[in-house]
Amino acid sequence: MMADETTLADLARAVGAARTIAVLTGSGLSAASGVPTFRDAQTGLWAHYRPEELANPEAFERDPTTVWQWYRARRQTLAEIVANDGHRALADLANELPDVRLITQNVDGLHQQAGHSNVIEFHGNIRVNQCHNEGREVEVDDAVDTPPACPHCGGLVRPGVVWFGEAIDPQAIERATQAAQACDVFLSVGTSAEVHPAAGLADLARRNGAHIAEINPDATPLSDRVTWIVRDSAARVLPELRRLSHNQHA
Ligand code: APR
Repeated sequence: MMADETTLADLARAVGAARTIAVLTGSGLSAASGVPTFRDAQTGLWAHYRPEELANPEAFERDPTTVWQWYRARRQTLAEIVANDGHRALADLANELPDVRLITQNVDGLHQQAGHSNVIEFHGNIRVNQCHNEGREVEVDDAVDTPPACPHCGGLVRPGVVWFGEAIDPQAIERATQAAQACDVFLSVGTSAEVHPAAGLADLARRNGAHIAEINPDATPLSDRVTWIVRDSAARVLPELRRLSHNQHA
C-alpha cells in the first residue's frame, strides 16, 4: 500500500482527470465539526440508549415523546455546529470539477451550510419535520416537548429522517445509483460502509469501472476493494486533495 502522501497525490491526479466523481459521505466527515458519529457512544441523558433503539418507527409509535426529545437534543447540539474544512473542500471541488455528485448519509445539513448544492440526502435531514401519517414535509414549531400535531391531518409530526426499517426516497436511490454507475472515481468518506443500500454504492461504481478511494482513519468492510486508502481525518485530507487536484488544472 502506498504511503498516504503518495496515495493522495495519485488520487488527486485521478480526481483532476475524472469526467464524473461520486462522493458518499458518512458521519465521520462531520466528526471534526463535533457531531458524534452514529456509532460513537451516546452521552448524557441518552447514554443508555443505542441510536438503533430510537431511530425507528416502532420506537416512535411506542414512545413518541422520548424519540422526539432525542431528536430535539440532537437538533440543539447541531444549532452550535458549523461545517468544517472537509465539507467546504467538497463544495469547492464540486464548483471546480466538471461533474461531482454528492450522496450523504448524514442528516445534519452541513454540506449545504458549506455551500454545496444538489446534495443527495440518502437518509433525510434532521432539520426537516414531516407528518408520520402522510410522510409529507410540514412547517411546525418544533421547539416543544412533545411531537406537534400535523396541521393537515392531526397526526404526529417527526423529524424528516429515514429510520431503520423505512424506505429511502426512491428519487434519492435513483440519483445515487446513476452517480455510482456514471463515475470514474468514487470517494467513500467517513463512513463505516456497513449500512445498505448506501454501503452498496461503492461496489456498484467498481462494477461499472470506477476506482474507489476510502478516506477514513479506520478500516471498513470496503477497505480490501479500494484503489486508494487514506487513513486520516476527512477534514484534513479533503482540503489537501482539492489543492493537489486543483494543480492538475492550473
Ligand atoms: N474522518 C473520516 N472518517 C472518520 C473520522 C474522520 N475524522 N472520524 C471517524 N471516522 C469514521 C469511523 O472510523 C467510521 O468508519 O467514520 C465512520 C463513521 O461510521 P458510522 O458511525 O457507522 O457512521 P456512518 O457510516 O455515517 O453510518 C451510516 O448508519 O446508522 C445509520 O443512518 C445511520 O447514516 C447512518 C448510517
